[in-house]
Amino acid sequence: MCEAMVQGLLSKKLLHNKSITVGEPRPERRSELKQKFKINITSNNAEAAEACKILVLSVKPQDLDSVLASLKGELQPEQMVMSIVAGARISAISKGLAHNAIARVMPNTPAQIGEGMSVWTTTPKVGKEQFNQARIILQALGKELYVNDEKFLDMATAVSGTGPTYVFLVMEAMIDAAVHLGFARHIAYQLVTETIRGSIMYAMKSGKHPAELRNMVTSPGGTSAAALYELEKGSLRTVFARAIWAAYERSKSLGEGKEPPAI
Ligand SMILES: NC(=O)c1ccc[n+]([C@@H]2O[C@H](COP(=O)([O-])OP(=O)(O)OC[C@H]3O[C@@H](n4cnc5c(N)ncnc54)[C@H](OP(=O)(O)O)[C@@H]3O)[C@@H](O)[C@H]2O)c1
Repeated sequence: MCEAMVQGLLSKKLLHNKSITVGEPRPERRSELKQKFKINITSNNAEAAEACKILVLSVKPQDLDSVLASLKGELQPEQMVMSIVAGARISAISKGLAHNAIARVMPNTPAQIGEGMSVWTTTPKVGKEQFNQARIILQALGKELYVNDEKFLDMATAVSGTGPTYVFLVMEAMIDAAVHLGFARHIAYQLVTETIRGSIMYAMKSGKHPAELRNMVTSPGGTSAAALYELEKGSLRTVFARAIWAAYERSKSLGEGKEPPAI
């Protein structure tokens, strides 16, 4: 995610390469990033944090505590911390760093190609200039939406953060069904991906509600009606509602430090 952010910031000319410093523990990865982006790289996170206006935390949740501990007390009040770490609450980051100017972001996987949807919030200690800079950084990952309460981050985790997983599963199911009909897998892949891409672009451009678009193509006794009957009979809507609610509940409990329940 951090690499995607650097890539987006440089390709959109939002920052100069020498204005970016990355803290990275592995020597081979440091050489790779330095060669690719000509940015400043260090193995010392505190050194990376020292000169920056915005410090982005982009480590796996299990590495967060040690990274926070290594940076505790190193930040000035006017520096801002932006965390994209899934499930990490502002209160935990604030306590771990002994710092109050924090932005918490929930991005999603398409951010890796600059097509992400990030939902974010900030603490009151984030100033106007820092806020605007944070927004520019997030625009390097795609679209962004600011919310004024951290509770929306758990909801966004269930909808946009986890959302690509649902879409990938639907893609996979449609591709397998097309193969079952007799299409070669690469043809099935093309038919499904182009159908999904085109349908989304059409829905967004037309501005019509999805139900209206669906009704427009559902002729009496036709193929869409036959397929929709089976999807409704299989409780597709209820399954989606339950899945998104389950992801929301899991996001809340992970943020509270609870272990996932045994299945
Ligand atoms: N991927 C997504 O679509 C997505 C979506 C929403 C949220 N997020 C959140 O974004 C964060 C990053 O995810 P990711 O998918 O980009 O993970 P990732 O590819 O594993 O990146 C984590 C990076 O942290 C580095 N790292 C490990 N320990 C470190 C330390 N002590 N100091 C500095 N850097 C350290 C790793 O370096 P090495 O490569 O050398 O190990 C790696 O480059 C996660 O917290 C995740 O929850 C990701």
